[in-house]
This record gives sequence, structure tokens and C-alpha cells, in this order.
Amino acid sequence: MRVARERRVARERAGDGKRTRSSAQSSARWRARVEASERPNVDADASAAIIEATSTHPVSQTTSYSFARSGFSAECERALNAQINVEYNVSYIYHAMWAFFERDNVALKGFADHFKAEALEERSHAEQLMEYVNLRGGRVELQQLLPPQTEYDHPEKGCALYALELSLSLEKLNNDKLCELHRVAEDAGDAHMCDFLEGAMMDPQVQSVREVAEMVATLLRMGPPGDGMAAWHFDQYLQNKA
Ligand SMILES: [Fe+2]
Repeated sequence: MRVARERRVARERAGDGKRTRSSAQSSARWRARVEASERPNVDADASAAIIEATSTHPVSQTTSYSFARSGFSAECERALNAQINVEYNVSYIYHAMWAFFERDNVALKGFADHFKAEALEERSHAEQLMEYVNLRGGRVELQQLLPPQTEYDHPEKGCALYALELSLSLEKLNNDKLCELHRVAEDAGDAHMCDFLEGAMMDPQVQSVREVAEMVATLLRMGPPGDGMAAWHFDQYLQNKA
């Protein structure tokens, strides 16, 4: 009995020894992991980059401020919002023209459809600009629209030529405004905004000026200003083109 008890005690002691060694090894491994996690795992250059990035671009802790905004000046933001208003105003005028040419006593469906398409195109330009303001972390601020005129008839020119000439003036004005906007971006040193305007906005605008100029020239070639027959034929051309 005594021998058996002594053997059991010896086995238990041996087991304690194993557990003690195992526990010591585990805690050493844990300490090593903690020390490793505390050691910077980046080289000196990357550390300098992190310090520079976090000091020049600290991240705001409030969602009322854009997280993405970077190098986007208040002046550029204001100018973009002003251009959004220009595009909406031009769209509004084209929409009024559509309503005029759609009247039963005007009945020039080709012109009506043309101006409706133009109204939607100008609104899409406003949306492009709105998306861009949001992309840069700015805030879109829509402004007041001016009510457009409702009558587009002209005693000498007739409604068709008068509306097309008005359209040409509007497209040229829009082009002037885009050039001004580009100057604001240049003055601010905003290369991305310049690239956006050049790539997405300015060429379509110049193309629009050219298209409307050709329409005015063609209508004038079809008959003297105010020629109702020329306007009717041009309307047929616009309907067939659509
Ligand atoms: Fe436009």
C-alpha cells in the first residue's frame, strides 16, 4: 500500500512539473507575441510617410464633414454650384420652348421634341456637375431658377428661327461660363477639376454650339427669315431625324 501511494505521489509530482513547464512556455509565447505587436512593423521611411499623411490630412471624427475632401477650394465649390444653376436655367428655357412648340396652334412637333431633348441634356449636365461636387467632398447647393418667357414667336423671324437663334446664344453663353469655371479651377491649381471640365464638359459644349449654328444656317438657307414654309420643312427634317 505504502509503495503504491509513494508511486502515485511521484507520478502526480511529475505531472505538476509538466504542467508548470507547459504554463511557463505558454506565457513566454504570449509575451513574445505582445512584444512583437508593440514593435513597429514598418521601416523608418514608411513611418515618416504615415506621420506626414496623418498630420496634413487628419480624419475628422464627425460625419457632418466630408471624409473625401482634399485640395478642393471653397472658390471652386462656389463656381461649380453657380454652373449647376446656369445649366438648370438653360434647361428650364428649353423646357418652356418645348411647351410652346407643342401647342396645337404652333404644331411644330420636330422643334418641340428637339427642345425637350435639349432640356434633358442640360439637366444631365447639371447632374454631372452635382456628381462632381459630391465626388470632391463638396456640398451641392441648388439656387433659384428664373421663370423663362412663355412666347417664342417673332414678327419678322418667326418662331422657328427666333428660337434657334436664342438657342445659339444660350449655348455660347454656356460655353463662356464653362471657360470662366475652368479659369477658377486653374487659379486654384485644381488639376483634377481642370481635367474633368476639359474631358467631360467643354468639348460637348463646343459641339452643341456648332450643331445649333448649323441649324440656324440651314433654316436661313431654306427661306428668308420668318418663312413659315421653311420652318415647316425644317420641322419635318427634325421629325425624320429623331
Ligand atoms: Fe450644358
